[in-house]
Amino acid sequence: MYVCICQAVTDKDIRHAAARGVNSVDQLRDELGVASCCGCCGPLAEQLLAEASDGPAPMNAGWFAQAASTV
Ligand code: FES
Repeated sequence: MYVCICQAVTDKDIRHAAARGVNSVDQLRDELGVASCCGCCGPLAEQLLAEASDGPAPMNAGWFAQAASTV
């Protein structure tokens, strides 16, 4: 399913990124563009990262502020 509509990123893309060592929404934004536009996808992306890593993903509230400032 699509997680980030703005950048056409799917849950599978996020799981693959997690398997490569991506462990924060900031890193997802850098690699895939997740949460780089409207930011609506940030919470779900973070949840998927946590599930993929079997633990809590590092929180970084900065991603939302950055995304919100680009809208
Ligand atoms: S849905 Fe991901 S930035 Fe808009």
